[in-house]
Amino acid sequence: MSEPIVLGIESTCDETAAAIVQGRTLLSNVVASSMEEHARYGGVIPEIASRAHAEAFVPCVSKALADAGLELSDVDAIAVSAGPGLAGCLAVGVSGAKALAWSANKPIYGINHVIGHIAVTQLQFGPFPDDTLALIVSGGHTSLLHVEDVARRIDVVGTTLDDAAGECFDKVARLLGFPYPGGPHIDRHAQQGDPHAIKVPQGLTQGQAGARHPYDFSFSGVKTAVARWVEGEQAAGREIPVDDVCASLADSVATVLARKAMRGCRQYDSKTLIVGGGFSANSQLRAKLLEFGRSNGIEVRIPELKLCTDNGAMVAMLGVNLVEAGVRPSAPDFPIDSAMPLTRVSM
Ligand code: KG4
Ligand code: ZN
Repeated sequence: MSEPIVLGIESTCDETAAAIVQGRTLLSNVVASSMEEHARYGGVIPEIASRAHAEAFVPCVSKALADAGLELSDVDAIAVSAGPGLAGCLAVGVSGAKALAWSANKPIYGINHVIGHIAVTQLQFGPFPDDTLALIVSGGHTSLLHVEDVARRIDVVGTTLDDAAGECFDKVARLLGFPYPGGPHIDRHAQQGDPHAIKVPQGLTQGQAGARHPYDFSFSGVKTAVARWVEGEQAAGREIPVDDVCASLADSVATVLARKAMRGCRQYDSKTLIVGGGFSANSQLRAKLLEFGRSNGIEVRIPELKLCTDNGAMVAMLGVNLVEAGVRPSAPDFPIDSAMPLTRVSM
């Protein structure tokens, strides 16, 4: 087969997205978001998100095909996020994708959304090296993965023992009064602050806990330390130096992530670090990873901003990998899996 053409569909959380990838080329990329409908509740409301997916599904897929100048009959396969994510949201995307696959008689792949976040880097940087390490930092996941073969074999090297980095940012953001999602607000304020103004702990980096968990993460202590500090200042009637709080938090989190990722690369003898997930849009993390990568001789592949947050291109790209590897498509009645494990690439 010449370069496979795959339609990718995404509906795990608050983005409805569809995109078409041919080989390593992105032909179209359409994203509709219901984020604004959730902002006043301080978090994603699954019922509202599910309804938004149902409304946006057909317009998104139609536009993705039109932008690529293709008909559904032109694609070789359909890929859709089958998990992990919100059950009601996944059900909308997967049902829609199954209907398309059935009507056009196309193979369908129910893929792992999180693995899509790392697969997407191929659109910018080309195919993966045979054996590589990946850092995944999304809203719900913070993990180091050993990617032997993105279509078939992935192992978890380390993971967060409590909060994900994105969750930690979102919780501190709420404390500081930023609207949901708070991560980008912390990022912006951090750019003007002093990263060493406040002492923020670096979870699982020192002593016995650090030795026992060299590749695991813990961010709940970081969140608590920042919360305590802010409450103390408020109780003393002092004004909160928001920029400094954000900069100190961001520096601590980015340093731990970058340090552990580099250590993992050394351990697995990987000259490349693949980075993905919504939190990889964070400017402090991007800068720290590139800096550490340079000094450790590791090529760090971080996607451009629009491919960091949830999108259909990541789903389509992983779909291409599965087609190219000759992986059997998912059964026509495959289920969603809201807690899909990271070691499972497709259903
Ligand atoms: O991957 P993603 O879009 O959704 C999941 O699959 O979970 O990640 C969303 C997370 C949220 O926690 C959001 O606050 C965070 O990514 N995020 C950021 C930035 N942009 C998005 N966190 C820090 N700085 C950013 N610039
Ligand atoms: Zn995501």
